[in-house]
Amino acid sequence: MRIGYFQFRPLFGKVEKNLEKVITALESVEADLIVLPELAFTGYYFKDRQELISLAEDPDDSPTLKNLIELCNRNNLHIVTGFAERSSGKVFNSSVLVGPNGIEHIYRKLHLFNEEKNTFDPGDTPLSVQTVKGTRIGMMVCFDWAFPEVARGLTLMGAEIICHPSNLVLTFCQKAMLTRCLENRVFAVTTNRFGVDNRPQGELKFTGKSQIVAPGGILIHRAASQTNELFITEIDPAEAKNKSITPLNDLLSDRRPDCYDALLKNSQ
Ligand code: ACM
Repeated sequence: MRIGYFQFRPLFGKVEKNLEKVITALESVEADLIVLPELAFTGYYFKDRQELISLAEDPDDSPTLKNLIELCNRNNLHIVTGFAERSSGKVFNSSVLVGPNGIEHIYRKLHLFNEEKNTFDPGDTPLSVQTVKGTRIGMMVCFDWAFPEVARGLTLMGAEIICHPSNLVLTFCQKAMLTRCLENRVFAVTTNRFGVDNRPQGELKFTGKSQIVAPGGILIHRAASQTNELFITEIDPAEAKNKSITPLNDLLSDRRPDCYDALLKNSQ
């Protein structure tokens, strides 16, 4: 399976321009699955909820998703991308899986980061796994990395590849994802953006360094921090089916959920 990422610098509020950049980059791509950054078309640092709502799109009536689906159709490709989703008066920081035949799944970010709490509604979609060309893929968005339950939950549902659109401003995630892939023996594609959102309320700089990690926490490739990069590699998703970490240890069947009650309760 040929999987990859496109790291780029979305321009805040320039949805059509950002889409054009993606379409141009992927127009002649030969791949099965490409992951784009979080909020790839709108930019990230909204000054308030009103501004976010004005830029968000209803997936049932989204020129951006329609164009991506047509691209998938031309290239027999699947894309996972972050986007700002408007739905019934709410607005979510979402990730969508699109393929040649349309939208296959939308995941709404469960763990909102910092000031996202002032603009977005928290995700309300349970974790789930989809099949792309025979391979099971799961989606999470950026700060979900800090909640190991997400990657473990997707793994328990059979995910072989975790698709992880991101807009990272901190430096911990790339290392943490090596561990997520070590402890779950899955592949992960973390696609980060680079550049700056310079807004009336302040400035955020994004850290790039998108990466693909193999089961065992093996780094296949990591991008530079502040550069465009389209990277594609061939993987064997079946590697993620083997959860053995020593001859006598299996990362899933050795679990002790009978002793993990606290994981399913709120700590407050
Ligand atoms: C983040 O969740 N965008 C840091």
